[in-house]
Amino acid sequence: MKKQIITNSSRETKELAKKFSKKIKGGEVLALKGDLGSGKTTFVQGLAKGLDVKENITSPTFVILNLHKSKKGLQLAHFDLYRLNNERDLEGIGATDYLGKDKIISVIEWPERAKKLLPKNTIWITFEHIDENRRKITFKK
Ligand SMILES: Nc1ncnc2c1ncn2[C@@H]1O[C@H](COP(=O)(O)OP(=O)(O)OP(=O)(O)O)[C@@H](O)[C@H]1O
Ligand SMILES: [Mg+2]
Repeated sequence: MKKQIITNSSRETKELAKKFSKKIKGGEVLALKGDLGSGKTTFVQGLAKGLDVKENITSPTFVILNLHKSKKGLQLAHFDLYRLNNERDLEGIGATDYLGKDKIISVIEWPERAKKLLPKNTIWITFEHIDENRRKITFKK
């Protein structure tokens, strides 16, 4: 199943993510693919808002995983694998304890760095630049 949407601002991308968050039950793995500055973290910010996360979502520079408390006992596990060297490092931080677990919503920036660890039912969301303020966002299950 494939769905494509164009957003015209970071606000629209956040709104889209917030809407998407309403379908989330826990246990999902979302792989967010796209170039630098394509809107992955912006999407996570909207998602977090929809999931009642109180903390700020930032692009983790040196941290690979940020954990946030979410609604109904769920946790948002935000991975940024940009600086990951190999998949073994991911196992080292205990990523496999989170990915696909019932009460965890996993979102992964730069997921192509850890393809082997991603479950089959991963939802792929691809971000593409159209111009300064427009992005094409594709959902694929
Ligand atoms: N339609 C849009 N959707 C999302 N972000 C947009 C849009 N238009 C402009 N922007 C801007 O593009 C930038 C996206 O940055 P963001 O940190 O979300 O990208 P990223 O994909 O996470 O990059 P990185 O790979 O460096 O982590 C922000 O500065 C945001 O304001
Ligand atoms: Mg980012």
